[in-house]
Amino acid sequence: NLVHLIGAPTDIGAGDRGASMGPEAMRVAGIDRALRGQGLTVHDTGNLVGPHNPWQPPVAGYRHLPEVIAWNTAVHRAVSEALRADALPLLLGGDHCLAIGSLSAVAQHCRAKSRKLRVLWLDAHADFNTHTVTPTGNIHGMPVACLYGNGPQALTALGGPAPQLQADCIRQIGIRSVDAEEKRLVHAAGLEVFDMRFIDEYGMREAMNQALAGLDADTHLHVSFDVDFLDPDIAPGVGTTVRGGPTYREAQLCMEMIADTGLLASLDVVELNPAFDVRNRTAEVAVDLIESLFGKSTLMRR
Ligand code: ARG
Ligand code: MN
Ligand code: MN
Ligand code: MN
Repeated sequence: NLVHLIGAPTDIGAGDRGASMGPEAMRVAGIDRALRGQGLTVHDTGNLVGPHNPWQPPVAGYRHLPEVIAWNTAVHRAVSEALRADALPLLLGGDHCLAIGSLSAVAQHCRAKSRKLRVLWLDAHADFNTHTVTPTGNIHGMPVACLYGNGPQALTALGGPAPQLQADCIRQIGIRSVDAEEKRLVHAAGLEVFDMRFIDEYGMREAMNQALAGLDADTHLHVSFDVDFLDPDIAPGVGTTVRGGPTYREAQLCMEMIADTGLLASLDVVELNPAFDVRNRTAEVAVDLIESLFGKSTLMRR
């Protein structure tokens, strides 16, 4: 039960500055103590080092591509190392472009160990843009596309020949903001999406039952938790807020149902932006929810 905390203090993939302060805000909110409280051994590996944010406009549809490559290469290395050490890598972002490096390492590890991989993408956004359709050029809007092989080779092949992910391994939950062209690509790729309309109509319980269907003891479960998944009322500390997200209770149920599988094996916590937060409230909510994700139960039994 070893967790490696891996800080990746950067905002090169985002449209606002500040996610680079995310790792420290999570530490201040007590991520280490919370995990130890769930009986885990925590090794904080400190922060990765990479290029600073040059704050330039996009070039050929990509903003800060060389910097994004450098950071993701470092993340890929650190996550691979944690998995090799039999630890659970917990990536503290940083913006969501870092999931390219993190999931490339996880997918590579699963191929080597012939384990099945299921990815739960908790997000307000599908992050399936490409350089031709992106409205912003921000690469945090592109990680899922890159992992499916749609992106620059330096990002799609970090974990070996592209694609890193098979079409049927991802489940997206909480989605409520998808750009017009991006939506077309999501449908064409056949991604399984439990959007807010689905959650409104059927409830978080049914969404998670379906998203977690078909797992077995041999499945590596990866959670990519973009903090903007949460409703901005409880999580204002993100750059790209979208109204109408899961409430605290819904998010907690989501985390508890993942914990119940006992299969969580790697985690990204990304897009926390202390520059937009109120007295570190969003980091504290994220830490609370991560406690649930690692097994803290609100049930009277047990
Ligand atoms: N779809 C928008 C874009 O491509 C927003 C992406 C937001 N992504 C995120 N990881 N917060 O710019
Ligand atoms: Mn170690
Ligand atoms: Mn998002
Ligand atoms: Mn995202």
